[in-house]
Amino acid sequence: MYDIPFLDIPALQSAHGVVHLPGSKSISNRVLLLAALSKGTTHIHDLLDSDDTRVMLDALQKMGCVISKKDYVLQVNGIKGQIDSSLSLDLFLGNAGTAIRPLTAALAIMGANATMRGVARMHERPIGDLVDALRQLGCAIDYTANEGFPPLHLKGCASPQLHAPIRVRGDVSSQFLTALLMALPLVAKQNITIEVQGELLSKPYIEITLNLLAQFGIVVQRDRWSRFVIPAGSEYVSPGVVHVEADASSASYFVALGAIAQRSGIRIQGVGLQSIQGDIRFVDAAKQMGAQVSGGPNWLEIKQGQWPLRAIEMDCNHIPDAAMTLAVMALFADAPSTLKNIGSWRVKETDRITAMATEARKLGAHIEEGADWLRIHPIQKGQWKSASIHTYDDHRVAMCFSLAAFNADHMRVRIEDPACVAKTFPDYFETLFSVCKSNTIPVICIDGPTASGKGTLAWALAQRLGFHYLDSGALYRITALAAVRAGLSLQTEQADTIAQLATQSKIQFNCERILLNGINVSEDIRTEEAGMNASKVSAMPAVRQALVDLQHSFQRLPGLVADGRDMGTVIFPASPFKVYLTASAEQRAQRRYKQLISKGFSATINKLRSDLEARDTRDMSRTVAPLVAAQDAMQLDNSNLSIDQSVDLVLSWWQSKHPKASSPS
Ligand code: DC
Repeated sequence: MYDIPFLDIPALQSAHGVVHLPGSKSISNRVLLLAALSKGTTHIHDLLDSDDTRVMLDALQKMGCVISKKDYVLQVNGIKGQIDSSLSLDLFLGNAGTAIRPLTAALAIMGANATMRGVARMHERPIGDLVDALRQLGCAIDYTANEGFPPLHLKGCASPQLHAPIRVRGDVSSQFLTALLMALPLVAKQNITIEVQGELLSKPYIEITLNLLAQFGIVVQRDRWSRFVIPAGSEYVSPGVVHVEADASSASYFVALGAIAQRSGIRIQGVGLQSIQGDIRFVDAAKQMGAQVSGGPNWLEIKQGQWPLRAIEMDCNHIPDAAMTLAVMALFADAPSTLKNIGSWRVKETDRITAMATEARKLGAHIEEGADWLRIHPIQKGQWKSASIHTYDDHRVAMCFSLAAFNADHMRVRIEDPACVAKTFPDYFETLFSVCKSNTIPVICIDGPTASGKGTLAWALAQRLGFHYLDSGALYRITALAAVRAGLSLQTEQADTIAQLATQSKIQFNCERILLNGINVSEDIRTEEAGMNASKVSAMPAVRQALVDLQHSFQRLPGLVADGRDMGTVIFPASPFKVYLTASAEQRAQRRYKQLISKGFSATINKLRSDLEARDTRDMSRTVAPLVAAQDAMQLDNSNLSIDQSVDLVLSWWQSKHPKASSPS
């Protein structure tokens, strides 16, 4: 996950491959609550692991539900609709509407004593209509801050009044109805009728609720979308095993990707045309816009069809979440598109109508908006702007705007607070990058002499930008170690054999561990002797050649920071940003001394300094790829700078030099 202030996505061109998507949030949180309320044990497969499911799990455990995990399968032992009335619960539910609403209803009806709260935005999301419905039943509920909004204090429920139909509004959020449908079976000694007032929003989500209720033994009778009856004697019984489908809303980004990217061929695993999720209907909208989609029960395949995409005018009430993806597809259409009946966007994670309009305008789009509609004018070639997309702590804003990186003007797109995707899809960007191709993946080259601080600087830059990191020195250190371990002398006569060994060895960078043929050599390659040996093998042209492809393979989305001696001159000469880092020999010897001592190696400053100088001489005077600053490198002497100061300085250079648009090579 990219837990950084912003993520720069370079211009993307094509996309190809298979994606496995995380479980549906709507199904996951409903299944968790139903399993918790049931009699018996439920084994849940493929549950989504995200912010919203984590708050639900925490709450259920506090309610006394025993939950364990074995081999990716979650085991939930139900509490049979009973809660210990002596418990006083304080439940923090983040920004998860799918958690706070049904939990409020279930806990209120069970007569629990509980505080229900969340993040600041949650306290701006309405819950008054649900509270009114629960109060009709006799549940005692207080607002602890603002009338109509969380936090809430639930203070028990004498004996629920169930004779008259229970009325709930359906035109603010369908989650209020879902909450009642999931809570009322707990007290269904008689038939219970729910009447929906106003036009019911997001009906497909109610279909998911009814479908899952049936899996847990509750067959609700429905009269159109206005009257629901829970039959007397209903009782939750675990079905034993439940498989959670992949999230159809998450699939929308990859369906759109297939429609937008050139030479695309995307296969989505885990959700297909027979999904119980309403957002699967997004596929029809994408087809209308020109995507070629085929599918089976739990897979979809998408290719680019019509290009540019066809504009649409659509009532999106049935696909409220996935419709945000249509708004971004509309930027690539042949005429303005209108998304109608999307009033529910205003009360989601953020006011999504305003958010989508504001951010699309930054990209250069002309957008018109109304209370419950949005008209998106496509952006013509030559009109795209490089934008920093504000994401409003809204995962869907972040995910759908990432697709703008396919713009015709090859502009990069900056996504602020990319970690907000953790709400439903923690590895969204990794998944996207795994199937996308870019002709302009940026490489930042940091070259310089031994112990100049390149490694530390390059690693920190990579962390701050979310880029990959190449420690090219480690490759020479590993090669030398492999040669020594194979009993080879490091003389020039052995160069071809050592080069061959380098190509045949399996070198893996696994977080902070470095593996040589599966063995952890992270410590062994860091000794002074290993550095000296590396310097020797790195002077052999055959060895350098043998490591070129491996080094190039590190240039992956969203970018690379590469450190070494010849990153800017030989390996990535086309890189637009190169830094040549130096420090005085005295400083470098001091730094190396501290480094070695902290790792428990013995060392003396004088010996280190003379070794450093010998190594510099060899690295600078060798015939192949000698250590020298690239002509277009920015020089930085960091003798008197702290690490943070160097990192901040180089980042500021990068921001000012980093091209916003680049022509594909
Ligand atoms: O950066 P380092 O100390 O880990 O590098 C070890 C040796 O490898 C160093 O003496 C020079 C050599 N090297 C090189 O020749 N080219 C690189 N790109 C990186 C390192």
